Amino acid sequence: MEIITAVKGFKDILPEETEKWRFVENVAREVFSRFGFREIRLPVLEKTDLFKRGIGESTDIVEKEMYTFLDRGDEYLTLRPEATASVIRAYLEHSLHNAQAVTRLFTIGPMFRRERPQKGRFRQFHQIDAELLGLDDPRADAEIILMLMHFLDRVGLKRVSLELNSLGCSSCRPAFRNVITEFLQGKEAGLCDDCKRRLGTNPLRVFDCKSKECQEIIRGAPHLGDFLCGDCREHFGKVTSALEEFAIPYTVNPGMVRGLDYYTKTTFEVTTEHLGSQNAVVGGGRYDRLVQELGGPDIPGIGFAVGFERLLALLEVPESASERPPDIFLASLGEQARNLAFTLCNQWRLKGIYAEQEFSSKSLKSQMKKAGRLNCSYTLILGDREIEERKVELRDMKTGTQQTVSLDDLDQHILNLIKER
Ligand code: HAM
Repeated sequence: MEIITAVKGFKDILPEETEKWRFVENVAREVFSRFGFREIRLPVLEKTDLFKRGIGESTDIVEKEMYTFLDRGDEYLTLRPEATASVIRAYLEHSLHNAQAVTRLFTIGPMFRRERPQKGRFRQFHQIDAELLGLDDPRADAEIILMLMHFLDRVGLKRVSLELNSLGCSSCRPAFRNVITEFLQGKEAGLCDDCKRRLGTNPLRVFDCKSKECQEIIRGAPHLGDFLCGDCREHFGKVTSALEEFAIPYTVNPGMVRGLDYYTKTTFEVTTEHLGSQNAVVGGGRYDRLVQELGGPDIPGIGFAVGFERLLALLEVPESASERPPDIFLASLGEQARNLAFTLCNQWRLKGIYAEQEFSSKSLKSQMKKAGRLNCSYTLILGDREIEERKVELRDMKTGTQQTVSLDDLDQHILNLIKER
């Protein structure tokens, strides 16, 4: 019979990899908590309207990539394609804004987008997401970027670029939309079908289109940066000078519009040359209208999401992430000995020792081979005859020396020995 495999684009994370995952998660938790962020855990399933309203109907994510289904004929539900909309949904649902004027939250977990799988792109992937709500101060933008860059440095990520842009606000962006619409007039024929359709609804999306032809056309377009209002220009200037104060290098990328519609003012991406076409490891930005658009009060916000798999693909495995060998292996010969091995092994585990035992009736030679392969510190040799004589053999695997220990003292002897290591 054929085995059933995982769904295309959905990946197992095997035991060899999970230590690396935990290492990154632990650094995130430690660094983020120092900046006042607290963890929130959210459901992976949300009402579809949350993402339609939050991310924007004319984005690739909402138009083509969401896993949406009618739940038993009742309502449309979606596996979350990102975390920001869910964080804000929870923030509003539990009135977190009433408790504190400024709220800092982070969450780690799987996201789902039905994209074409390729290197660095999956249909289930994971994000480390941080959101800062309640501050429109440009120093908040710099602070969250500082935290992000510190985190990337702490996990050991080297050679990345921070790209910045400003997407303006509700007073300067509509004027820029008109400029782009005018620029694209007469060039419609060269655009892909998606962009043709979006011309009337959301012409800025052309900047984010993956088609080569659209990229070629939009390359010559005017930049939003030249159309920013005084307030947005000043805001961006303060963000960049605060980054300079902390010696964080950045480049301004005027063509970066990001793939989600909620952004205002500062947006940013961390990119690398080592991931092929999927070069963004982190994406983020300010979203001063999103809380209101999701039915809440007028509260500004800014955040980012790190792509977990892409980050891991760039990291060297830290030494501590290698597998831990057992403290002791219990080799046994005969049924009575195997019973005793079973009892001792599990008793020691309950006392904090990493013990392994042999369940099968293999020869002593093959059990000793296994002990060597496991790279354990000690091997205990139990045979029915030894049990009758109430003494067993304990071999130190590092030195190769062996000693006889009385069964009555064994427990204490092992505990002392392994505690001392
Ligand atoms: P995003 O740019 O769509 O932003 O995603 C953030 C990161 O998630 C990307 O830079 C990438 O590393 C990773 N990512 C996205 N799609 C995939 C995929 N199919 N396979 C593997 N990794 C992927 C957001 O999601 C925003 N919610 C970020 C944000 C938070 N903005 C404000 N707050």
